[in-house]
Amino acid sequence: MSNVAVIGSQWGDEGKGKIVDWLSSRADVVVRFQGGHNAGHTLVIDGVEYKLNLLPSGIVRPGKLSIIGNGVVVDPWALLKEIQIVKEKGVKITPENLMLAENANLILPVHRALDQALEITRGNTPIGTTKRGIGPAYEDKVARRGIRVCDLAHPDLLKDKIMAMMCHHNILLKGFGAEPIDTMETYNKLMEIADDILRYAGVVWKRLDEARQDGKKILFEGAQGAMLDIDHGTYPFVTSSNTVAGQAASGSGMGPDAVKYVLGITKAYTTRVGTGPFPTEQDNEVGAFLGERGKEFGTVTGRKRRCGWFDAVLVRQTVKLCGIQGIALTKLDVLDGLDEIKICTGYELDGKTIDHLPASQIHQANVTPTYETLEGWKESTRGARSWAELPASAVKYVRRVEELIGAPVALLSTSPEREDTILMRDPFVD
Ligand code: GDP
Ligand code: IMO
Ligand code: MG
Repeated sequence: MSNVAVIGSQWGDEGKGKIVDWLSSRADVVVRFQGGHNAGHTLVIDGVEYKLNLLPSGIVRPGKLSIIGNGVVVDPWALLKEIQIVKEKGVKITPENLMLAENANLILPVHRALDQALEITRGNTPIGTTKRGIGPAYEDKVARRGIRVCDLAHPDLLKDKIMAMMCHHNILLKGFGAEPIDTMETYNKLMEIADDILRYAGVVWKRLDEARQDGKKILFEGAQGAMLDIDHGTYPFVTSSNTVAGQAASGSGMGPDAVKYVLGITKAYTTRVGTGPFPTEQDNEVGAFLGERGKEFGTVTGRKRRCGWFDAVLVRQTVKLCGIQGIALTKLDVLDGLDEIKICTGYELDGKTIDHLPASQIHQANVTPTYETLEGWKESTRGARSWAELPASAVKYVRRVEELIGAPVALLSTSPEREDTILMRDPFVD
């Protein structure tokens, strides 16, 4: 058994899609286990770009089983639309290669309306959510009033559950001064697509157990990043799910021993979309350079991503929080041409040196990074496919990152293209 979990080690958008796609050639099953269509995972295969939100990144490879696990919140209309768009690119998607957990919770139009209304109530300090209803859907799940995929097979129960849910939310929406959502319209719209969704529904935990018994290789595809985790991230500026590696098991219905290797996807610098603390942010020409070179615009919302230097303190922390055994270092090529490159090695807080990001919102906003400066390189690393092609200063940078975060580089990515990837150690056989 050599299953691998791919986890974002920063604030998301580290290049998980590209790496999952690359690794999926070695896997049999690819499983999403948390988040929803707030995720935007980009794959580039021979110049063709795929932007996936809910579909696991293994979907583009024939012969692989893609699974949307119970830990994911699923907007059924968004899912059907995405299936359609990806099919139009020539990818085959049928219940043979896509399975949806029957116990996954649904995102309904009311969740999207609530997400928008709640952001407005946050006034000057919105979270900057993707406004896709993710938070409110997870709230309903925990409040035990959620609608699940399996409920679509029982119209009467479904109607009762929607009525109970809407009764609660419409009072809230009214209080916010927002338009209420029509209960029967939601029900009717759901009934229209119920069969289209139910054809993919199945008993995921059992299917995964069978795959495991058959010695199949499972790749768990994380969404977001560990610093957006509901418990361990920069709360409250986080998403509403656990994004750390521990979630891979419970979000798919397997025991914790199912994950043998945790691969942290790590950008060679740092980005963040939305509000919240970002100690190494460079709101200056350096940030502009990284944003432009790295094409740092949100895959889901098109928002400009905030950019800054690599924060080794944060990644060292997520290495521990996720049990990361190795990293895939991505977007090294974006640093090409810089005279010097900084790495954050520690923080100062109230005159004291600290080696981690504290939990307090006040402390997180007030830490000052301590940097060390490394020499940059003028040569291009873009598209490099072997370690030998890298300039000495780039090698030095990578080695220093490894040293500071306490984890080795297993994969190195040098462009968006699938094959522009250097393998140092295979996570499936490590
Ligand atoms: P994800 O959410 O972690 O899957 O990442 P996104 O797809 O949202 O954002 C990563 C962006 O960087 C995408 O546009 C990728 O095509 C691109 N990308 C991935 N790896 C590399 C790389 O090594 N170099 C460059 N220049 N771009 C990359
Ligand atoms: P991938 O999988 C980057 C951020 C949002 C916002 C916060 C909460 O592509 O890496 P939400 O809509 O989840 O309630 O928003 O989380 N966020 C992401 N940032 N990458 C993502 O996904 C993200 N998914 C959510 O910008 O700050
Ligand atoms: Mg993304």
